[in-house]
Amino acid sequence: PMSPQNTWKQLAGNAAAELIQEGMVVGLGTGSTAAYLVQAMAQRIQQGLQIKGAVASSLATYDLANSLHIPMTDLDEHPELDIYIDGADEIDPQFRLIKGAGGALLREKILASAARRFVVIADSSKKVTQLGHIYPLPVEVVPLAKTPITLQLTRLGAEVKIRQHNNIPFITDNHNYILDCTFPQGISDPAQLDAQIHSIVGVVETGLFINMVSQVIIGGPEGVQIFSR
Ligand code: A5P
Repeated sequence: PMSPQNTWKQLAGNAAAELIQEGMVVGLGTGSTAAYLVQAMAQRIQQGLQIKGAVASSLATYDLANSLHIPMTDLDEHPELDIYIDGADEIDPQFRLIKGAGGALLREKILASAARRFVVIADSSKKVTQLGHIYPLPVEVVPLAKTPITLQLTRLGAEVKIRQHNNIPFITDNHNYILDCTFPQGISDPAQLDAQIHSIVGVVETGLFINMVSQVIIGGPEGVQIFSR
């Protein structure tokens, strides 16, 4: 039997799959919620829906979608996505996000910025009043710059941990490292923090998604709720 949280993730994923229309180029997110979307979309395709193609935000999502016979494409063939659908780690009342717990933040942000609409799918536990209290902020960095960047991030108030996998640094799909940054007081000005981190040389991308979201679909005990801006 499925946990309530997974049921809610699936509700959100199924609802988002209904937004996909004939002839669309669709961006597919990463994580457990996005996996429900991929499954629901594969089912619609099996039932006759024809899309131009799907672009994956990670190697893991590519493999899943490809194994379910979703026609895959890329940003060179289709530099604009009609819709990008992905999960999130935290969602604030202004639809600002922390993403990247799965390590796919760079490709996710590239797809979100290439999309005409970015739809976030999540269970209700992802809604927060302020970012940064539950999940650390992931910052993707060029490996050789990890130590000077750590120093700069510390000066911005972060407690920094390099993400590890089996006791060695976790390597992203783009061959970079991830520095997980905890801000003990939370993140009071996400846009300013994002700009400050981006100004550090060697930073590739941050997990802060600001002014990108068009719609949020939340699955919870009351069913599906859709919020639009
Ligand atoms: C992946 O890098 C993240 O941005 C995911 O979107 C996020 O971790 C959500 O994952 P779940 O849907 O598994 O909670």
